[in-house]
Parts: sequence; structure tokens; C-alpha cells
Amino acid sequence: MTKKRVLSGIQPTSDSFHLGNYLGALKQWVELQSGNDAFYCIVDLHALTGDIDPALLRKRTLSSAAQLIALGISPEKSTLFVQSHVAEHNQLGWIMECIAGFGEANRMTQFKDKSAKGGADTARVGLFTYPMLQAADILLYQADQVPVGEDQRQHIELTRDLAIRFNTKFGDTFKIPEGYILKSGSKIYDLQEPTNKMSKSAGSVAGVLEVMDTPEANTKKIKSATTDAGREVTFDEKGKPGISNLLTIHSALSGKSVSELENEFAGKGYGDFKGAVAEVVVEYLRPIRTQALELLQDEAHLIKVLHDGADKARAVASATLAQTYKNLGLVL
Ligand code: AMP
Ligand code: TRP
Repeated sequence: MTKKRVLSGIQPTSDSFHLGNYLGALKQWVELQSGNDAFYCIVDLHALTGDIDPALLRKRTLSSAAQLIALGISPEKSTLFVQSHVAEHNQLGWIMECIAGFGEANRMTQFKDKSAKGGADTARVGLFTYPMLQAADILLYQADQVPVGEDQRQHIELTRDLAIRFNTKFGDTFKIPEGYILKSGSKIYDLQEPTNKMSKSAGSVAGVLEVMDTPEANTKKIKSATTDAGREVTFDEKGKPGISNLLTIHSALSGKSVSELENEFAGKGYGDFKGAVAEVVVEYLRPIRTQALELLQDEAHLIKVLHDGADKARAVASATLAQTYKNLGLVL
């Protein structure tokens, strides 16, 4: 059986990934390396759609790479690279912009949400065309599966629509990708406001568990997480969003099922339970943080690893782009 091609991307927009990124997306990246041909991309060009701080962008791109490797993305088992190192992304991105309709781009909820925040007039054009660049990221690699969190479902649908439209009009060019979206445990909520998703932009820092945070900081955040009325540690997303979120986190990292945990903490208070969650989280993240910090000590080596990844990626991307240009009638 031929291996399935997997592709995903993540923006280098924060100093540290958080537990929502890990449990909602990156954990699947790690799992999908086995038995598949996986391409993982740090989408620095997408990050330009937010505020641009050159020194921070550089730092965060390298830090993202170090964290991904520490979280288990192996540059030997998969192709790990930086989007701007492979120029074909911009090139196919333009083609996708010429295939997509203004109306369908305008329906993207991520654009609507993000542009609404600063006022639609100040939103930049790149934020609007973001999904077409994302479609290019995926289609260049003829990906079968795209592991992402639930919030990316609409972008994957758009990618499929664009690929089908292109293939129908210009001949078979792109594989039609499938989203690979983890259902249970895929959404992690803010510790302080457990009805909002854990996110760097939305929540307060106190509600976000970061991979690069010190063990002490994360322990403190968990111990001061918002809990709910009542005393029983039971899973009830509506009635007890805070405790349910902590149960999801514990279960995802310890491998124990939620019902096992409910039994284990029956008759114990929230305090005991939070202590246990803190220990599970801290021990899970400790070696990851240590390795990421080590990798960042040798920047030249880390960049070399990323360049090697880009060489492997470009070999695939350039073949797809050439076929696309040919089918469009561009003279090669
Ligand atoms: P972001 O940094 O928000 O662009 O997210 C990067 C990836 O992590 C995306 O695939 C998201 O779907 C996923 N993700 C972000 N926050 C969460 C969360 N709180 N729960 C689950 N997945 C998340
Ligand atoms: N838009 C994605 C996010 O916000 C990041 C992304 C860019 C991506 N290109 C991609 C995800 C290609 C999957 C495939 O999380």
C-alpha cells in the first residue's frame, strides 16, 4: 500500500505553543508521521497577516521549529520546513486567488472574525487572501489528509472546492484533500473562561497553558483555574465547563479515560483534582521544554535542519506547480 500524504501548517505567532495547539492539532501531527508521508510547515507568510515585528517573527519561527521537534516531529520521519523557504507557495497562492470567487472568500468566518476585531477597513488584503495561500500549501503536496483543529474545517472545504473546480476546468492536477479533524478532546478551553477556546489572542495569559512556560507558572495557572459550583469531579460540559475541560486535559495527557478519572476522584474535592491535573501537565511538558531550549542553543544547526526540509518539500512542490502552469496554458 502506498503511504498517504499528510500536510499541515502552523503559524509562528507566539513564543510558545499552548496546550490547545498541542492537543487539538500537533499531537495528531506526531501520530500521523508513522505510516504516512508527512509534510509539516511553519507558515511564516501567513503570520505576516497579523502585526509584523521582524525580530519577533524570526525568533518565533525558530522557536516553533524547536518546539515541534521537541514535541515529537522528527525531521527524519517527516518533512519539516518553513513556508517562505519554498517559493512555490506564493506562486500557487496567486493561481488560487485567480480561481476563488470574491464571494466565497468573503464567507470565511476566520476572516470575518479577525477583520471585525480591528474594523474591516483596517484589515489587510493578505488576511482576506489567507485561505487561498493555505489552499496552495495543501494542494502543492497532493495531500490526502490535512490534520487540523475544528476551526480550520471551512478552509479545508474551500481548498477542496478550489481543487475540484481547477481539475474540472483545466484537467486533473490536484488531489482532493480530506480534513483530518479529531472529534473528542480536540477542543481545549481557556482555564479562566472555560466557555472560550484556549487561545493566545482571546483569553488572558492566565487561562493559557504554554509549552515553554516554567513548571511553576503552569502549576499556578491550573491551581487558579475557574471551577464551577458543586464539588463532584464529573464531566458535564454545560453545567461544569471548567472541570470538564480539566478532565479532558488530564485524560488526553495521562491516557486515562474520563470515566476512570471520575471514579478516581469520586468523593475528593476540586483541590485534589487540580493538583493531579497540574502534576500530569507539568511532567508531560517538562522534557519537551528542556529539549526545545537545547535546540535553540544551536541556531545554525536548527536552520540547517529546516533548509534540508525545504529541499525535500520543494522537490514535490515544484512538480505540482509545473503541472499547474502547463494546464493553465502558461508557457514553460
Ligand atoms: P492557532 O495558533 O490558533 O492558529 O491554532 C493552531 C492550531 O491549533 C489550529 O489547527 C487550531 O485548530 C488548533 N487550536 C488552537 N487552539 C485550540 C484549542 N483551544 N483547542 C483545540 N485546538 C486548538
Ligand atoms: N490556517 C491554519 C491555522 O490557522 C494554518 C495553516 C496554514 C494550515 N496553512 C495550512 C493548516 C495548511 C493546514 C494546512 O491553524
